[in-house]
Amino acid sequence: MPIRPMNFADIPAVLQIQAELSFQDWNERQYEQEIKAPYTYAVVYEKDGAICGYAVFHLLGADSELLSIAVSESAQRNGIGSKLLQAGLSQLELEKSDCCFLEVRENNLKARRFYENHGFTLFGIRKKYYSDGENAALYRTENRSDIDPSKKGV
Ligand SMILES: CC(C)(COP(=O)(O)OP(=O)(O)OC[C@H]1O[C@@H](n2cnc3c(N)ncnc32)[C@H](O)[C@@H]1OP(=O)(O)O)[C@@H](O)C(=O)NCCC(=O)NCCS
Repeated sequence: MPIRPMNFADIPAVLQIQAELSFQDWNERQYEQEIKAPYTYAVVYEKDGAICGYAVFHLLGADSELLSIAVSESAQRNGIGSKLLQAGLSQLELEKSDCCFLEVRENNLKARRFYENHGFTLFGIRKKYYSDGENAALYRTENRSDIDPSKKGV
């Protein structure tokens, strides 16, 4: 299975993908903290010894969140992002968390299409959320307990 937990030795490769795509500015320490946090689910996609993608989730019950997902440019559109996303959503399900939130730059249409194709629904826009003034588009997965009464324990 090419998807495995992220470890400290992966951070340089992860930072390289982040820099290549210029979509986020986390530093080494932030990734270290994420790896150490008990509520974080951080994974990488490794192929032929090279890291070509990663994802970071916070598994916090009803407040679970996808913080970051990226696939290096040359490896995109091969289903790797979908596999990383699915791995996190499966983990969420295992931990009985039935909802996942995320925010993404309003102009990042590529990622927004990707999320919408994977069942995320737009539920709001946060004005001037990013330091450069760009709005954030807020997405969430369907909360299955809203539609499946058996999950409400009634
Ligand atoms: C979003 C991202 C993770 C998708 O990874 P990926 O490995 O290409 O995803 P997949 O191959 O599994 O799925 C591709 C889907 O994403 C969308 N997509 C990817 N590239 C796209 C493009 N250039 N234009 C429009 N849609 C695009 C489409 O829905 C596409 O499905 P399709 O190929 O059937 O049309 C990747 O594009 C990426 O790393 N982007 C830069 C980082 C980023 O913006 N992350 C999200 C913010 S945290």
